[in-house]
Amino acid sequence: MKTSTLSQFLSSVTDKSSPHCVRTSDIIMTIALAGKMISRQVREVWLDGMVGETGETNVHGEQVKKLDEFANEVFVELFRRNGLVGTLISEEMGEPVQVGGDELAEEFLLTYDPLDGSSNIDVNVTIGSIFGLYRLPKDEPSANLLLQPGKNLIACGYALYGPSTNFVFWSPNTSVCGFIADMSIGEFRLTDENIKIPDESSIYSVNEANYPNWDKATQEVVDYLRVGRKESSTRYIGSLVGDFHRNMLKGGVYLYPGTVANPEGKIRLMYEAAPLARLAVAAGGKAIDGQQDLLEIVPDSPHHTCPTIIGSSKVVDEIREIYTKSKK
Ligand code: AHG
Ligand code: MN
Ligand code: MN
Repeated sequence: MKTSTLSQFLSSVTDKSSPHCVRTSDIIMTIALAGKMISRQVREVWLDGMVGETGETNVHGEQVKKLDEFANEVFVELFRRNGLVGTLISEEMGEPVQVGGDELAEEFLLTYDPLDGSSNIDVNVTIGSIFGLYRLPKDEPSANLLLQPGKNLIACGYALYGPSTNFVFWSPNTSVCGFIADMSIGEFRLTDENIKIPDESSIYSVNEANYPNWDKATQEVVDYLRVGRKESSTRYIGSLVGDFHRNMLKGGVYLYPGTVANPEGKIRLMYEAAPLARLAVAAGGKAIDGQQDLLEIVPDSPHHTCPTIIGSSKVVDEIREIYTKSKK
């Protein structure tokens, strides 16, 4: 076999003498397994009667889809069974849930969006699962222990359910690396071990229907992206993870700004914005909430939301400049 599988690759980068390093790799393998299980269900969604909503509303006031619930349970079941992490924070669970494990597990917090892009489930458009892994300080117990900023991530990534199933992650022992599922052998196979985001791009991804609800600075930013640059093109799927993946490979910037009525926007810091921001930075891109680096933001709750701008470094720099000038 020419390319290595995810397990072979992880084994080659794991320091076997470090229990934390071994544990991180085992957690990544479990998330990849969750990705394969969810991918299978995504492909059978129409055949298995899994389309539509459960009738429940989640902590964000959004209708829960049957597949959101299924995907969340896959993560919970797998981590309950293997006890590798102490705590889970999920978009689909109001409170953090304890699932570990041994003493080592207590040092690991896994945050995840089990299914990102739920509005695209029933229409066969790319969706995915996003995760972030944090190592918690052992000897400093505090009420806010779980509220970690993105700069403390020790691994993050996503599974993408599109025409093929991809798995992309970053950890301190690797660059940003990408895999593609070879379902004939049930394994992810390495396609790129050093993904880099082009610095410059004409692509921007934003829901422009929100234009009338934005403040002046944000309107100025989007006007600039549309008509102020040499070339300009919009690509917006409505699945953050899908938009991010395209922008990482081709170049581009994703924006979900706040509105005047809701300045913090809708993207969740701990399991959407921060993991993708960390990946972007590792791939040479940048991530801000307008003026501030996104990875510096300390969440005030597990479901904290923040304005989110992630992508090609030069374009993000220009956006920051416009915000900075306009806020002076
Ligand atoms: P989720 O499906 O996990 O609730 O996340 C949806 C998010 C994000 O993926 C996407 O970019 C954005 O919401 C789309 O929102 P709009 O429909 O407001 O554009
Ligand atoms: Mn999401
Ligand atoms: Mn979701």
